[in-house]
Amino acid sequence: MKYNKKSIEDVCVKGKKVLVRCDFNVPQDEDLNITDMTRIYGALPTIKYLKDKGARVILCSHLGRPKGEFKEKYSLKPVAAALSKELGCEVKMAEDVIGESAAAMVASLKDGEIGLLENVRFHKEEEKNDPDFAKKLASFAEIYVNDAFGTAHRAHASTAGVADYLPAVCGYLIQKEIDVMGKALDDPKRPFVAVLGGAKVSDKIGVINNLLEKVDTIIIGGAMAYTFAKALGADIGTSRCEEDKLSYASEMVFKALCKGVRFMLPCDSLAADHFAADAEPKLVDTYSVGEGYMGLDIGPKTIEAYSKAVKDAGTVVWNGPMGVFEFDAFANGTRSMAKAIAESDAISIIGGGDSAAAVEQLGYADKMTHISTGGGASLEFLEGLTLPGIACLADKE
Ligand code: 3PG
Repeated sequence: MKYNKKSIEDVCVKGKKVLVRCDFNVPQDEDLNITDMTRIYGALPTIKYLKDKGARVILCSHLGRPKGEFKEKYSLKPVAAALSKELGCEVKMAEDVIGESAAAMVASLKDGEIGLLENVRFHKEEEKNDPDFAKKLASFAEIYVNDAFGTAHRAHASTAGVADYLPAVCGYLIQKEIDVMGKALDDPKRPFVAVLGGAKVSDKIGVINNLLEKVDTIIIGGAMAYTFAKALGADIGTSRCEEDKLSYASEMVFKALCKGVRFMLPCDSLAADHFAADAEPKLVDTYSVGEGYMGLDIGPKTIEAYSKAVKDAGTVVWNGPMGVFEFDAFANGTRSMAKAIAESDAISIIGGGDSAAAVEQLGYADKMTHISTGGGASLEFLEGLTLPGIACLADKE
């Protein structure tokens, strides 16, 4: 999907009330401290630009899944505090989303000032993309900016509905995400290698199918590798397997053959006789894992082959861990892929979610070309699907 959307630089924002949808769905600990600032940092360039240009900036976002009810633990207050600290100025916080407090906060904003509405998902109308709710939100502003890439795959009131009532453009974060990932899909530096991991084939069906049209090599890791291995006749022991996806798996291997795409599956695995952090790892052949054993990570020969493919790549897209990286004994495959991608000269794009978290944790974030802020959204982008939060924005003439 090619996008050529108007951005904040294509509209005059001085003195205007600008509603900005961000993705402040940040992880928090029990005391509601924000434990990962990536999404807040990602939103700053757009907010700073609008502030510097003298806009009256009205931020909004969801946090978690409060299911249409006010719940203190899903309040955006900690985000307002973090933003105030990062921006070095007050970010005013409304007590509600479309009520009196929000209206008063918006009315109080002067040029260059910033305010944050409460969690839009405190209203069930948000996820239903209710037109009245979207209209009410839109009535606060004169321009709508969507910069919530992580939520761009949702057709909700604040991510898509408001665009029916306001001139709608994208912020810097969405623009960067679609530029980098769009270019990788449409005009990649070759060889183009996709590294796909994670537990379920069913989560990656669309992505594998779409990427087979574009890449030179697909590397498969994570538990889903065992569904592919079984489809090819392997004895995978008690490894995780989606029986109803076996025929799809063989179809994909066949499609790769027909298209001349190299389809790499693990040749060796680290297995265990039970699923636990303290399970004893046993090195096995992926095609004969053996009775009572389950594959939990890729083995050393596979790591070597996968690392070589990544080293020689022009572009690498990575989504999904290679093994159960939460367990130290089964984290080596994911760690090694992160290292190999970081050390390669390829343009490296890391899909959000677990692979982004792994890259951050391992300290390779600054070695990657782009780490997407969207988990589900980046997957849908790689699948070639239309993202409603981007499709609703105005096209450049
Ligand atoms: C995410 O964290 O992936 C986004 O913020 C979207 O959240 P959602 O899956 O609750 O819509």
